Amino acid sequence: MVKLHGTMIINEKGHLEIGGCDTVDLAAEFGTPLYIMDEELVRERCRQYYEGFTGTYPNSEVIYASKAFLTLAMCHIVESEGLGLDVVSGGELYTAMKAGFPADKVYFHGNNKTPDEIKYALESKIGRIIVDNLTELETLDRICGELHTKADIMIRITPGIEAHTHEYIQTGQIDSKFGLVLSNGQALEGIKIALEKENINLKGLHCHIGSQIFELESYQHAAEIMMDFLHKVYLETGHRIEDLNLGGGFGIYYVSGDKPANIKAYATMVMETINRMCEEMDYPTPKVIVEPGRSIVGTAGTTLYTIGSVKDIPGVRKYVAVDGGMTDNPRPALYQARYEGLVANKADRPRTDEVSIAGKCCESGDMLIWDLHIPEVQPGDILAVFCTGAYNYSMSNNYNMLARPAVVFVRDGRADLVVRRETYEDLVRNDVVPERMKKGKPLSVVNSGQ
Ligand code: LLP
Repeated sequence: MVKLHGTMIINEKGHLEIGGCDTVDLAAEFGTPLYIMDEELVRERCRQYYEGFTGTYPNSEVIYASKAFLTLAMCHIVESEGLGLDVVSGGELYTAMKAGFPADKVYFHGNNKTPDEIKYALESKIGRIIVDNLTELETLDRICGELHTKADIMIRITPGIEAHTHEYIQTGQIDSKFGLVLSNGQALEGIKIALEKENINLKGLHCHIGSQIFELESYQHAAEIMMDFLHKVYLETGHRIEDLNLGGGFGIYYVSGDKPANIKAYATMVMETINRMCEEMDYPTPKVIVEPGRSIVGTAGTTLYTIGSVKDIPGVRKYVAVDGGMTDNPRPALYQARYEGLVANKADRPRTDEVSIAGKCCESGDMLIWDLHIPEVQPGDILAVFCTGAYNYSMSNNYNMLARPAVVFVRDGRADLVVRRETYEDLVRNDVVPERMKKGKPLSVVNSGQ
């Protein structure tokens, strides 16, 4: 038996096993492509966060950024592990409410919440709305007035930090669609406007400096800038900000060379920085909130595919095509993201071949892995791609009318379906054919508009 990450092992049959379930059997039972989540690993990551922050520093809260991976079952897991939830749309909020997630532990983000979404959030009595900009502040205040309610808000600040990550997922820098800029005075101005609003309770400030970040110093830097700002807000307005939300972004392992920091070290560094600054500035310690997404679910996810066509171009490349691709994992195409994997039914064989894993979409860019060492494969073999738990299912799509895969949680030898595989019927369930386009109608009828 060889132990890999989480509960993953190579069992005595030479098969990949996760959560005590043989993945070759899972592929046969549920079909492929298939998302598998290692429940024990998801819970372990939740606990590492909970213990690192709330367990050690009671003035802190961890909220899971549900955009990384959200299903009803996931809401139950997050709730049972004592974490709150970050949502960014009416749809994510609906999922949380449908799962019965405690509304007061829901935080609503987004740079363009619609009036309907704002109403929905207020009516659901969620914990906090994170206001992104002044337009939203006005709209929120007006809707609160109409509904005779008040909103507890945080304001999103752009602290001006450029985390070392892919440029598309940098969000802390000044030129960003998110938040009010700190350095040019817009943030302070926004806060003053919020304090004047009748229906708004300004509880906190928020920042998010990017995603897949490895350097803890970036977080320390963000914490320092934000604490300085909280102090400045107090000196300028006399208002004490109670909550400081430092966003998510903690990096994870995808491929060799990725060196994620330790969650406990992250928690200690952030909390000690804030506690030290509060002491120095004689400022009451705010409640600190963090919003991890990827680092809760990323490494817990594995996608199984069935290998189909194999095409060798001698001296050039060997393409091994699978039955999914950019529809279930758009990250390689979008961000040049890299993944590792193995052949689940030949996991103990020597990896003698170097191949490129292609998806089945009609796009040359639909490549999942450019260079992967695997044993010689035949059609029907099962490929497992690792660390697909975050931003895969949640970013999946139906390009080329491919049906979205099922999602299965595995634990202690049990495999539970949490999302059914889409059917062909699902693909057209929202389609409507207007009467005049129905088969058999002559063109003259169409042209006369009848
Ligand atoms: N909080 C806020 C306000 C965010 O915008 C995000 C991610 C998070 C928390 C969670 O960040 P995490 O811990 O998951 O890094 N689709 C991209 C990632 C986009 C992240 C967007 N915001 C990807 O696949 O890499």
